[in-house]
Amino acid sequence: MSPAGTHAPSRPRPPRWVLGIESSCDEMAAAVVEDGLEVRASTVHGQLDVHRPYGGVVPELASRDHLRTVSQVARAALAEAGVGPADLGGVAVTAGPGLLGSLLVGLSFGKALAWRHRLPLVGVHHLAGHLAAAELAAPDLARPYLGLVVSGGHTALYRIGSDAPPALLGQTRDDAVGEAFDKVAKLLGLPYPGGPSVSAAAKGGDERAFPFPRPMQDRPGFDFSYSGLKTAVALAVEAQPDLAPVRADLAASFQAAATDVLVAKALRAARSEGLGQLAVVGGVAANARLRAEMARHAEAQGVRVFFPPLRLCTDNAAMIAAAGARLLAWGERHGLGLGAFSRVPLDQAPWAEPPA
Ligand code: KG4
Ligand code: ZN
Repeated sequence: MSPAGTHAPSRPRPPRWVLGIESSCDEMAAAVVEDGLEVRASTVHGQLDVHRPYGGVVPELASRDHLRTVSQVARAALAEAGVGPADLGGVAVTAGPGLLGSLLVGLSFGKALAWRHRLPLVGVHHLAGHLAAAELAAPDLARPYLGLVVSGGHTALYRIGSDAPPALLGQTRDDAVGEAFDKVAKLLGLPYPGGPSVSAAAKGGDERAFPFPRPMQDRPGFDFSYSGLKTAVALAVEAQPDLAPVRADLAASFQAAATDVLVAKALRAARSEGLGQLAVVGGVAANARLRAEMARHAEAQGVRVFFPPLRLCTDNAAMIAAAGARLLAWGERHGLGLGAFSRVPLDQAPWAEPPA
C-alpha cells in the first residue's frame, strides 16, 4: 500500500537488486536493475522464427516456447549481473495486459522464485513498464509529464502525474499504430515483423507520393484511429498493376501519415495539459521518422522529448524491473494469489502505481 499522506518528502529507496520478468507476448525477457536506475543485465529471447511462418504471433506457440526458455533466460540475467536469487530484494513480473498463456508462464516462474527465496513479489502493468523505460534512460525526466505509448497493442496518451495515478487522455478507437505497421507490411509483401521492415522499405521512398489520410488529426480530443489508414493503403495496393516499383513510396507515405498523427496529437496534448516534457515509449518509439519528426516539432514548441534507447523501446524486462523497483520502494507487495490479466487499463490496475 502507499504510505500515508499525499506528499512524501523524498523518494523512498528501492531495494538494491530487483529481477524483472516479462513474457506478455512473444518475448521472454529477464533483467536485473540496481537501485531502480541501473540496468545490470537485460536478456531478451525473441521468437521470430517460431511465428514468422504465420505472419504474426500464435498465442499457443508463444506460451509453449516461453515454458521452454523461462528458467534459462532468468538464469542468464542473474549470471550476467553477478547476483544470486538470494541477493535479490524483490521480483517484479508483468501481470497484464497481454496474452494470458504467455503472461502465466512469467508470472508462475516469478511466484515460484519469490516463494523459494522468500522474496517480495510485485506485479507490474506492461504499460507502466514501457513508461518506466523512459525514466530509466533519462533520470532527469521528472513527473508530471505526457506519456505517449505506441506499441503493437496500444496507442494512448497519458498524463503521468506526480501525485496521482496515470490519467488517460486519449487512445485508439480501433487498431494500434504498431498493428497498422504490421498489417501494412503484409499488404506490401514485406517480412514479419512489420514495423522494422516497413521502416526499412520506406528509406528510399517518397513520402508525398501517396496522399494518405491523417485520421482524426484535426478532430478535438486525443483519440486515434488507424484502421481507415490501413484500408487506404490496401486500396492503393490493389490499384497497382505492379507493386515493386512503388513499394518504397507506399511504405514511406504510410509511415509519414501514421507518425504525423502521433506528432500532432501528442504536441497538442502537451499544450492543452501545460506539460513541457513528453516521453514516447513502446515498440513504435523505435521508428526513426517518428523520433526525428517528434524531436523537431517538440523543439519548436519548447517541449523536451524523451525516447528510450532502442533496446528499451520494444519489450524487455529492464523496464519491468524498474517499474517494480518503484512499487517495492513504496512498500507494495503482491502475494502468491496475484493473477494475470489479459486486458486491464493502466489507470485501473489492481496493482496501480502509487504516487511519486
Ligand atoms: O512494445 P512492443 O515490443 O510490443 C507490444 O507491447 O506490442 O511493440 C511491438 C510493435 C510491433 O507492432 C512492431 O511492428 C512495432 O512495435 N515496431 C515498429 C518498429 N519497431 C517495432 N514500428 C515502426 N517502426 C519501427 N522501427
Ligand atoms: Zn510492449
